[in-house]
Amino acid sequence: MARLSVPKDRIRIVLLEGVHASARDVFLAHGYENVELVSGALDGAALQARLADAHIVGIRSRTKLTAPLIAAAERVFCIGCFCIGTNQVDLQAAKLRGIPVFNAPYSNTRSVAELVIGEIIMLARRVPEKSAQAATGHWRKDVSGAREIRGKTLGIVGYGHIGSQVSVLAEGLGMHVRYFDIVDKLALGNAQPCPSLDALLAESDVVTLHVPATPATRGMIGARALARMKQGAVLINAARGDVVDVEALAEALRSGHLAGAAVDVFPSEPAREDEPFSSPLQGIANVILTPHIGGSTEEAQASIGREVAEKLVRYSDNGSTVGAVNFVEVSLPVQAGMTRFLHIHRNVPGVLAAVNRVFSGRALNIAGQYLRTDADVGYVVSDIGGDLVEGMGVRRDLEAIEGTIRVRFLY
Ligand code: NAI
Repeated sequence: MARLSVPKDRIRIVLLEGVHASARDVFLAHGYENVELVSGALDGAALQARLADAHIVGIRSRTKLTAPLIAAAERVFCIGCFCIGTNQVDLQAAKLRGIPVFNAPYSNTRSVAELVIGEIIMLARRVPEKSAQAATGHWRKDVSGAREIRGKTLGIVGYGHIGSQVSVLAEGLGMHVRYFDIVDKLALGNAQPCPSLDALLAESDVVTLHVPATPATRGMIGARALARMKQGAVLINAARGDVVDVEALAEALRSGHLAGAAVDVFPSEPAREDEPFSSPLQGIANVILTPHIGGSTEEAQASIGREVAEKLVRYSDNGSTVGAVNFVEVSLPVQAGMTRFLHIHRNVPGVLAAVNRVFSGRALNIAGQYLRTDADVGYVVSDIGGDLVEGMGVRRDLEAIEGTIRVRFLY
């Protein structure tokens, strides 16, 4: 097991906001004993006090890690966002203090895909409408408009992590899958790419959106695109709220052009549970509205706990920054019988030469070296072979190099 410049039993890990216990299990399995799970979110002085002696911090979406808080948390050397988004952290401030920030962008992929599959069947059978009628005492067995999904065409817009999972599951249910993506993607199973979004809209009985929020996807499904969809088709949006013009969608549903819709994400979403929610899609038959819960399952939470904790452990044990959202990515081999020095510095000329002088001045052999820089920060990792005796002052001299932000070593 890797040994670190701060011994593992002294590394304090603070996980706030009820991060799943799966994260603690990962740390314990890798020899980190000092893991504190805090159930709620903290702010202000309480947060600063809690971070004062922490080395690794885990948060979810409610904890704001501002530049002053990051500066005050002097010992913190990496941060985990146990969620998808990272806007709650001042990423630039963290980077300039040599702190990589990790998240879990794909732990809830399957949860979203499963919800979409359920919604396809519910909408095809007009269950939202029939359920609402039964709940208010009306027994309506009318078969018109109730369809099987077998043999129907599913159009997937955005064939990334979620879109491709939906593709596999939908084929298992006998659907024909077409997809449109701006990048060439390997078709899974019998799915077939469409040459354009318009072609996909014109062919599909169900259209499901799985694109990111970009200038090109904003308003991608407006009145014009909706008009291109087949009469009686259904639309599912579990991607991002501003991809669909909800006024135009409401109109397409009311006019009967579309037979139903399932929407999980909205242009404007309440920030808290006690805020009211209103949408032009409310009160329309055969519409499923859900409060941005596409990825919210127990399994996804456990998976996020594992994914982020593993990235933090890898960085702490090995120096690898793969998956960091604010930092140059360095993927490192496991070091065997070497001492690994991690040197994070402002990206000014001459640092690498100065680092190497520290080693060559002591006749130390650099067995491997990895360097990555961006406009602000450089990260050089040096594996040193041979006899490295304590008291050589390597760390002290590395820290003294002009521009140094942080030095750690692993052995
Ligand atoms: P991904 O990055 O794996 O896939 C997105 C795909 O969209 C990529 O293949 C990309 O090339 C494609 N794309 C980008 N711009 C496009 C365009 N203009 N036209 C066609 N294709 C385009 O992302 P992932 O993980 O599959 O997520 C997809 C969406 O789902 C994201 O918007 C994400 O925010 C959302 N999401 C929603 C959740 C929920 O709770 N409802 C949970 C997780 C993700």
